Formats: sequence, structure tokens, C-alpha cells
Amino acid sequence: MKKPTYHILVCNSYRVAGDAQGYCHKNGSSQLVQDRGIDVAVSTTACLNVCSQGPVMVVQPLNLWYGGITESRIDEILDALEEGESVEEYLIAH
Ligand code: FES
Repeated sequence: MKKPTYHILVCNSYRVAGDAQGYCHKNGSSQLVQDRGIDVAVSTTACLNVCSQGPVMVVQPLNLWYGGITESRIDEILDALEEGESVEEYLIAH
């Protein structure tokens, strides 16, 4: 098995009952990432314990934690990732 270059974790804002009702899920964020052609695996996660700054997206192994994710922010973040960079203004942890 070939390991992907990046692993992106997307907070799916799961509700207590486990229904995937979160913003990222509704907006097809996983598909947005996969359409890029970046060598990346995408996983949706349950709560990442920073709900107040969600929806959250984490890029590993760079350990970049982004908050307030929207479709346009995902585009910007992926643009930066393709250049090997981050979007500082959306980072929620340093
Ligand atoms: S539900 Fe997304 S960080 Fe808690």
C-alpha cells in the first residue's frame, strides 16, 4: 500500500445521535478535497474538541488546524497546500 502524502481530517460536527449533519458534510467537503488531484486521504471525524471554532479541518502530517471552514476557505487552504504552504489567518492552533 502506498501511503498518501497528506491526511486531511474534517470535523463532521456529528450530533450526539451520530447523524452526520455537520456543515462540512452538507457541503461535500470531502469531494472538494478529492477533486484536487492532491495525494491525500480524507477522513471525517467526530468532535475534535474545538467546537467553538468549527467546523475544523486538520492537515497531517503538517499538524495544521484550521477553523471556521467554509467552501471558499477550503479552496484557499488547498491552493496553499499545493504550494506547500499554509493559510495563517485560518489557523486555530500554532
Ligand atoms: S463537533 Fe467539531 S470540533 Fe466539536
